[in-house]
Formats: sequence, structure tokens, C-alpha cells
Amino acid sequence: MPSDLDDIALAALFATPPGTLYLNAASHGPRLRSVQAAAETAVAAGIAPWRLGEEEWIASIEHVRTLVAGFFDGDADAVAMVPSAGYGLSLAARNLPLSRDEAVLVLAGQFPSNLLPWQQRCAETGARMVHVQRGYEHSSHAHDWTNAVLAALDDDPGIRILALPHAYWHDGTLLDLDRIAACAHARGAALVLDLSQSLGALPTAIERWRPAFVISVGHKWMLGSYGLAYLWASPHWREHGEPLEQTWFAREHDAAMASPLRPPRYRPGARRFDAGGIAHAEKLAMAAAALEQLHAWGIENLRDALQARTAAFDTVLREHGLDDWITPNHAPHLLGLRPPAERLDAVAKALTEAGAVFTRRHGQLRIAPHLQVTVAQMREVGGVVVGSVQQS
Ligand SMILES: Cc1ncc(COP(=O)(O)O)c(C=O)c1O
Repeated sequence: MPSDLDDIALAALFATPPGTLYLNAASHGPRLRSVQAAAETAVAAGIAPWRLGEEEWIASIEHVRTLVAGFFDGDADAVAMVPSAGYGLSLAARNLPLSRDEAVLVLAGQFPSNLLPWQQRCAETGARMVHVQRGYEHSSHAHDWTNAVLAALDDDPGIRILALPHAYWHDGTLLDLDRIAACAHARGAALVLDLSQSLGALPTAIERWRPAFVISVGHKWMLGSYGLAYLWASPHWREHGEPLEQTWFAREHDAAMASPLRPPRYRPGARRFDAGGIAHAEKLAMAAAALEQLHAWGIENLRDALQARTAAFDTVLREHGLDDWITPNHAPHLLGLRPPAERLDAVAKALTEAGAVFTRRHGQLRIAPHLQVTVAQMREVGGVVVGSVQQS
């Protein structure tokens, strides 16, 4: 675990305005100074667009692709760039086979970007949606999504697609994707993962999970800009998938520019899924700076450093008997704080007065720090929560 001094040095890498305890990386990642500088340089360079050569431009796209691949299985051919998670999930929903007597499994309350595309596809095909509830009848723990998913798979042999996260967006409850993937594959079902709330904070295990598609936004734990998201496609879909839209960008460039009578070949690998407009100089520059920093930290070190922050907060609450307020076995970087309903306003008010920024939704406060908050500050945040109880 880094010392307090290391923590202060880490926090200094971020441009977050002083006086703010930003605990909302699950909404939008905090801005690294290096990302801010890259954005400013790219905007300044935009006054002379002719100076950025085409080769340099393509190289900057491929650089980001390679950096993103490092969070999956290291294969840049597997990665495409798309504008949003919803776009990537719509692409997955459009491609995966699904018929009338089959079903798509999602978690109840799942983020709409990983729900709407499946609802649409089911409406078109006549297939069913299976909304898994926590505390499913066969599951012994109210927070246990994993056993709820496994029980639903056992109950419903029609499930063909599982569209899941690694960490639940409300409160960071983790899903055991190793167990779920093994069970899904044994039944011939495809796995689609929305890792928007974990990529850049938790390692992935593509070889074990064997997903069909993986999607993540780039502006949360990946610390980049809004409007650039990442898609990983399995070898099968890289060869056989159809993009959502037709752009010259996804085709062999020179051939496409010759305005042929028939469409030229797609570019290799998942590049066929690259969306129009993603090669945006400022967004690419910001992504590259963010991804370089994430790789320099190393995903395991980063996970542990984020864990140290949430653990410091949890410890203070536990010392005061408030264990029940914290999501059990939450992800290292993300938790839900669920005070009794009559205390929620007081806790939220105390945190806001202390300068904390967080999301309040579904009767809980989502606490999602990044490295711009020190472990010592997270202890203080825990103290604010405890203090609000003692005052009331
Ligand atoms: C789990 C999850 N998926 C996706 C998104 C974003 O999706 P989109 O890029 O479609 O807005 C969010 C949050 O904004 C999220 O929490």
C-alpha cells in the first residue's frame, strides 16, 4: 500500500480543483493533468490541420488501439473505437443470433445502454428478456448476483445471450465472471460484457471469459474523454460481424476513396467496427495520455491503490458498527452507502458540506474515489458519515 506521501504525489497528478472530494469516478473519471495538457495541445494544433499528416493521424489511432488492447488480451486487432457503450452494445445485439423461443439475460436495474439494445432486439425477434433479481429464490444472499445468474441459467435453457457487467453500476457488487462464463459456455450461450464500470480499475480475463463482445466507455475508469468508447470483438465476430453503419473509415481507405462500384474490403480485425467520427484528434490525444498513465501504474497496482481508498472508508464505518450501510464484498473501487432511509438526507448533506461530490440514486450514495483522493481523505470521509449519525 502506498504511504501517505506517495498518495499526495499521486493526487497531484490530477487537475481536480482543490477543496473538492471528488468521489464520482463512476460517473466521469477525474481529469489527469497529462490528459488536460494533451487536450490543450491537440486543440492548439487544430488551427493548422494541414500540419498533421495522414500517416501521423492513422498512427495516433493505432497507438490508442494498442494501448486499449493492453487492458484485454494484448491483441490490437480485437479492438474497435465507437462513440458510446450503447453504440457498442447495439452492435453486439444486432449481430448475435437470437430467435423467437430464446432469451437474453440481464440484471434487474442494469444500465440502460446494456438494456435498450436487447429490448429492441427481443421486440424484433420475439425473443424474451430474463431480468435476474438479486436475492433470486435459489440464492442465499441478497447481494449475490452471481448465484442469481447461475440459478436463472439452470432454470431457463432458452437463454442464448448474457449481457452483464463485472461490477454493478449502483453499488459495485462484483459478479464472478469466471463461474458465469464457464456455465454460459457449457450451455452454448454467448457472453456480452459492459465493463464501463470496471475497465481501467480491474483486470480482465478474456481467455477465461471468452466473451463475444466487450464494451466500455472511455470517460470513467479509463480516464479519457466523453464520446470515445472501446469495443473488443472475439475472433469470430472480427471476421463475420457487420458494423452498425457504413463508413469509409472501416474499409480499406485507398480503395474506398476510389469510389468503387462494390464496397472494398473491411480493414483487418475489429477495425471494421470503427465508427465514423471516432478519429477525433483531441479525444485520441486525451485517450492516449490517460491510457499511458494507467499502463504506467499497472492495473493490479491501481486496483490495490483504489482498494486501499475504499477499505479506509469502510474501516471507519465498521469501527462504528455501520457495517450494514456498506455493500458487502463490493468492488475495490466502487461501493454503495445505504444508510437507513430516514438518515439518508442527513448523511448526504454532511458529505456535501464536507466538499464531497457523489451520486445519490436508488436510496443510496455511490462512493467511487480515484487516486486524486488520498487514503487519509477517505478516512476523513468515513468520519463525516459517522459524525452525521452522532449528530442526529
Ligand atoms: C454500466 C454502464 N454502462 C454504460 C454507461 C454509459 O453508456 P453510454 O456510453 O451508452 O452513455 C454507464 C454510465 O454512464 C454505465 O454506468
